[in-house]
Amino acid sequence: MPRARSKRKGTLRRGSATPRRGSAETRGAFAGRRIAFAVTGGIAAYKAAALASRLVQAGAEVHALLTEAAARFVTPLTFESLTGRPAAVSLWEKPEGHAIGHVALADWAEAAVVAPATADAIGKLAGGLADDLVSTFLLAFGGPVLLAPAMNARMWAHPAVRENVTKLRRRKVRLVGPVKGRLASGAVGPGRMAEPEAIASALVTLLKRRRG
Ligand SMILES: Cc1cc2nc3c(=O)[nH]c(=O)nc-3n(C[C@H](O)[C@H](O)[C@H](O)COP(=O)(O)O)c2cc1C
Repeated sequence: MPRARSKRKGTLRRGSATPRRGSAETRGAFAGRRIAFAVTGGIAAYKAAALASRLVQAGAEVHALLTEAAARFVTPLTFESLTGRPAAVSLWEKPEGHAIGHVALADWAEAAVVAPATADAIGKLAGGLADDLVSTFLLAFGGPVLLAPAMNARMWAHPAVRENVTKLRRRKVRLVGPVKGRLASGAVGPGRMAEPEAIASALVTLLKRRRG
């Protein structure tokens, strides 16, 4: 099991969440690791909260950022409570006590996870668009990125989405899921976000690669 990193970087406000022990599989792997956690606007955003909680319990420092669509499904307060750090939505207005912008966050983070990753967010990243906090952060961030796509099966099968995914894979952006299962529409098919445990383990692999 890799040892916790002691090296700290950046001047971000330290959160008040007390890291607790995570599962055997993630314990140690996340201790002291700095994760930018982007949430985009899909129904699976509620599962993102469980993932954020899991990472914090495993010792990670997590900064959440939400798109405006994501904030319709879950509140920034949910992530602030779980991570002990302010969660940002706007590129223009920072929450109270939030000393950072997208560039400082990009300098601070060791890895970024986007969960859920909407078709829209995937398209923006593939196309190099930056019109909100999450997309601007992702372009400013030079480190490893993990996407956990979640969408309707027909959206996932759409040639535009397929092309965007291929483009991102070529750029070494990692994807976990989506998996086949019951979708929000009631249909069964590929498009369901991977479970928090699977995303956490993909993130461990990503962090190990970065270290090696
Ligand atoms: C109820 C509801 C559920 C949605 N679920 C998804 C989803 O799972 N995946 C997706 O790609 N888009 C979904 N959308 C559409 C996105 O919210 C929409 O494309 C939005 O512009 C995405 O913005 P964002 O990428 O900035 O978060 C959903 C919309 C609604 C109203």
